[in-house]
Amino acid sequence: MIYLNGEFMPIAQARIPVLDRGFIFGDGVYEVVPVYSGQPFRLGEHLRRFQNSMDTIRIRNPHSDTEWTRLTREIVERNGGGDLQVYYHVTRGVAPKRDHAFPSGIAPTVFMMANPLVTPPAEQVRDGAIAVTATDIRWLRCDIKSISLLANCLMKQFAVDHGAAEVVMFRDGFLTEGSASNIFAVKNGVLLAPPKDNLILPGITYDVVIELAGANGMPLEVRRVAEAEVRSADELWITSSTKEVLAVATLDGKPVGTGRPGPLFRKMHGWYQDFKTAVMRAPAA
Ligand code: PDD
Repeated sequence: MIYLNGEFMPIAQARIPVLDRGFIFGDGVYEVVPVYSGQPFRLGEHLRRFQNSMDTIRIRNPHSDTEWTRLTREIVERNGGGDLQVYYHVTRGVAPKRDHAFPSGIAPTVFMMANPLVTPPAEQVRDGAIAVTATDIRWLRCDIKSISLLANCLMKQFAVDHGAAEVVMFRDGFLTEGSASNIFAVKNGVLLAPPKDNLILPGITYDVVIELAGANGMPLEVRRVAEAEVRSADELWITSSTKEVLAVATLDGKPVGTGRPGPLFRKMHGWYQDFKTAVMRAPAA
């Protein structure tokens, strides 16, 4: 069951008018929230980022956090609970005609769906993932979680075409992020993270990793990371709501460090799993 503009329905029944600004211009924003054992992970933080995306592109948030939380609970229940990824999507709405400027007096379109949460298979966690590099060809507002994902789709397909799980992107000689993930590097025992500026999505998983590093005394530097540092890193990690924390084994066909997930990854992966378990055991919000 999906949710569209106030109603739950089977996805096959869902209809969107072709003049929806999301369809015509990609004029909208989205979120993806992982749900473990029926419990949304970091929902408040995801809703704050969603609000920020809407504020930035001047869409009035059609729901309060309380309403989003209620809708989240309901879509989780209607899809059988367990481990899910809930997708939230708000567009500027259906315009009377195709015109780039914002139309006045239209209501945002609201869509939600819940699909099984597919986290990386155990072998990939154990052995690491294949990644390739590319120039970041995206715009300069990558901090907005925009549904306009053409460049990200091209990047992900580039990865698939090269037998890789993800693309590590560089802009002007510095690490930005992956096509659908944030990227961390480890050099000489120090975890390196690019700053949350306009060139990357402020990842919720990124924040969790930084918090866990801080809580466990793992040395951390949040700063611009040069391409050369990435290429000579001891470890590289991919983080996202669906990938959680995943090590990169090879980059452009060359081993990262030993070519096996490193010791800092194994620590962080363990802390992350423990953190998840604690959230799952928490009473329903
Ligand atoms: N993608 N950077 C980009 C470009 C992303 O698309 C994502 C997430 C992230 C990681 O953010 P978070 O930790 O909050 O999931 C970073 C989601 C999962 C997607 O598009 O499906």
